[in-house]
Amino acid sequence: MSISLLIASSDDHFREMVRENLLNVPTAKVIAEYQEVTANLYIRILQDLERNPEAALMIDLGGDTEASLKALERVTQAAPDLYVMASSFSAESEIVIAALRAGANDFLTQPMRRTDFRDSMARLEKAPRRAAVASSKLGKIYSFLGTKGGVGTTTLAVNFASVLAQRKQQTVLLDLDWTGNDVAMQLSAAPQYTLQEVGENLDRMDQALFEGFVTRDPLGFFLVGPPDSLDARAHFTEPMFREFATFLVEKYESIVVDAGRSLIDEVVLGSLQTSSTVFLVVTQDFPAIRNAQRYVAALMRMGFNQDQLKVVVNHYQKRHGPNTASLEQIQQTLNQPVFYGIPDSPAVVAAINRGRPFVADRQAAGDLDRIFRAFVDKATGAKIAEAKSA
Ligand SMILES: Nc1ncnc2c1ncn2[C@@H]1O[C@H](COP(=O)(O)OP(=O)(O)OP(=O)(O)O)[C@@H](O)[C@H]1O
Ligand SMILES: [Mg+2]
Repeated sequence: MSISLLIASSDDHFREMVRENLLNVPTAKVIAEYQEVTANLYIRILQDLERNPEAALMIDLGGDTEASLKALERVTQAAPDLYVMASSFSAESEIVIAALRAGANDFLTQPMRRTDFRDSMARLEKAPRRAAVASSKLGKIYSFLGTKGGVGTTTLAVNFASVLAQRKQQTVLLDLDWTGNDVAMQLSAAPQYTLQEVGENLDRMDQALFEGFVTRDPLGFFLVGPPDSLDARAHFTEPMFREFATFLVEKYESIVVDAGRSLIDEVVLGSLQTSSTVFLVVTQDFPAIRNAQRYVAALMRMGFNQDQLKVVVNHYQKRHGPNTASLEQIQQTLNQPVFYGIPDSPAVVAAINRGRPFVADRQAAGDLDRIFRAFVDKATGAKIAEAKSA
């Protein structure tokens, strides 16, 4: 029987050692590695379990043992029948008992001996398999990441959130493009409160407080972004984002992020890492595609896989000229399928001038509206779900 492992450890050596040991187990593979064992580890694990329900978790309790045990507890609460192997340098009974109470099925002392590792894999193979569970109740984060300025990242994020809200999904739209703040502009919103206030109030954050101070778009989604003033240096850090994201996925069905295009922004990276899908927005011109290649390479190095990364071609024109690429050329260059093409349409600029999403006026947007909704269907699996329930 094959073994699929998720490895959680802040220690490079630990993860490497597990990988090395696995080489001796021909049927085993690593599905995901998490470099942090923090309170919101469970979000990423649930997302990965959706794709690999049979996977087991190897978690390192070294580092901050107390925090790791808490993280483990949240994981096993969220996924009660996940098989968990915990590991620590200390085999003191207190730690072992705490690990078992937190939901671990097995315990391995470090440094791990090959025979111990093999035996633990044998126990795992004998353990009952986790049945594929219905998809988790946690909300999904969809991030839109531009590979160049002006490719339409903000436009796509705004309209994506709008369609979800029109479908009565509980939706939050987050603007993490600190310099642009274009989401508010495209929606004619003038938010009074921003991510600054979110950061300041995290320790008492609840749904009533959140909805009380963020802006609600007429379509029904909530919107929060950076302060409008460029010289206001708002304090919103990556750990704050993680805590905020945990709140959001517990309370809302969909979180849509305008991630801008900075891969060196820690908050943006945090959002990409908690995303179930990252839409990489490109256009058919060569500079955008070349940049997309760099983005794909960097994201792959960070551990994203093809399931999570979706290339969207905006301003798509079927009849492309000599200075632009066809979809086939884009797929070949990126070694990634193109997930969707969103046509170039004058309706987009008209909508931005009106200060409303183009999907808010279905007639004016015509074909663009229809194609965009089909894109949302494909991205959220809406049509599949409908077919299943039919
Ligand atoms: N499919 C489209 N058809 C026609 N125009 C479009 C399309 N998508 C976006 N645009 C136009 O392109 C311009 C840039 O769009 P947008 O601000 O969404 O891009 P961005 O990638 O977020 O830019 P920035 O790098 O400034 O954040 C806007 O004027 C918008 O109207
Ligand atoms: Mg933008």
